[in-house]
Amino acid sequence: MITPKFKKFNIEAYKPGKSKIKKLKKIIKLSANESALGMSPKATKILSNKKFNLERYPDGKSQNLRAEISKKFDCNRDKIICGAGSDEVIQMICQLFLKPKDEVVVPQYSFLMYRIYANIVGAKVVFAKEVNFKISSNEILKKINKNTKIVFIANPNNPTGTYLTKNEILDLRKKLNKNILLVVDDAYAEYMKNKDYKSGLDLFKNKDNVFVLRTFSKIFGLASLRVGWGYGSKKIITALNVIKPPFNVGHLGQLAATESLKDKKFIERSIKHNLYYAKKIKSYLEQHNIFSNAISANFLFLDFEKCKYTAKYFYERLKKKGIIVRSTEDGYHIKNKLRLTIGSKSENLAFMNAVKKILS
Ligand SMILES: Cc1ncc(COP(=O)(O)O)c(C=O)c1O
Repeated sequence: MITPKFKKFNIEAYKPGKSKIKKLKKIIKLSANESALGMSPKATKILSNKKFNLERYPDGKSQNLRAEISKKFDCNRDKIICGAGSDEVIQMICQLFLKPKDEVVVPQYSFLMYRIYANIVGAKVVFAKEVNFKISSNEILKKINKNTKIVFIANPNNPTGTYLTKNEILDLRKKLNKNILLVVDDAYAEYMKNKDYKSGLDLFKNKDNVFVLRTFSKIFGLASLRVGWGYGSKKIITALNVIKPPFNVGHLGQLAATESLKDKKFIERSIKHNLYYAKKIKSYLEQHNIFSNAISANFLFLDFEKCKYTAKYFYERLKKKGIIVRSTEDGYHIKNKLRLTIGSKSENLAFMNAVKKILS
């Protein structure tokens, strides 16, 4: 039988944080930066209480959700587009802005989907070096030329956990050509409490050449429902709505996301929990010469350079104990580091206990 010809892409497919270990039934997954506390009780309630008409298509415009987002973040609902995760919004942005020979600049160790979607539409992906695993505006600016259409930045950045300060990111926008779109991905913004930081949404709400990405997969704990959103100029949003799949966000996702926005208590609890355990784990690991970034998100980027064991050895030993962390070699090609998601209380304690055993 003949398989009709399809396009071939020279792309390394995205490898998500692993979630299974052969032969082990009970595992602790600290590899995908998911919410440590699950989802908001308000979201749980709405998902369990209602009789749903799932035979009906969902609202293709996510109207209630957009209204709630605009209320919560004091922004314009007509400048919001919802997606099946922020992932889909990244894809749509690439489809809208890029054609073959256009260039996209991404930091060397940035979230992988920027390069993957840009590649798929035929654009050239140019990598800007980082300095000590931190995004460098200077290196980004060096890579700009007349073909550059988009610069992608996650702030804080995944997987390195480093971030650009408010002044640094404002300065970058100022120095970039005005006709280049700066995409600021705020996926972990809620966790960030440092005073020198401001989210992309806070800084650039009214900037037509900045597009902001947000997700319900992290602090809101709805990763499986696939809900994210983008915020940009009305012109960009109108154009995105033309290419958007008509019913891209499911009804349950829209409902749960809308409810979780109303749950201030849950968000505050999640932030507190994250800071408490991130600090505890960070200082615990430092006693064993495993150093990490300043806390900025719900994960730590662990450096094994000064440790008596390598990241690889550590990864395998944790795995044997049923604990999965994220290899930074897969996709990111970063050696001797690991990315650790902050988990629930029992997961964190189990992790620390396992570390103790490995190191003793
Ligand atoms: C920086 C960053 N942006 C976007 C995403 C994708 O999130 P979503 O689940 O909304 O597609 C992730 C997921 O890990 C991420 O780390």
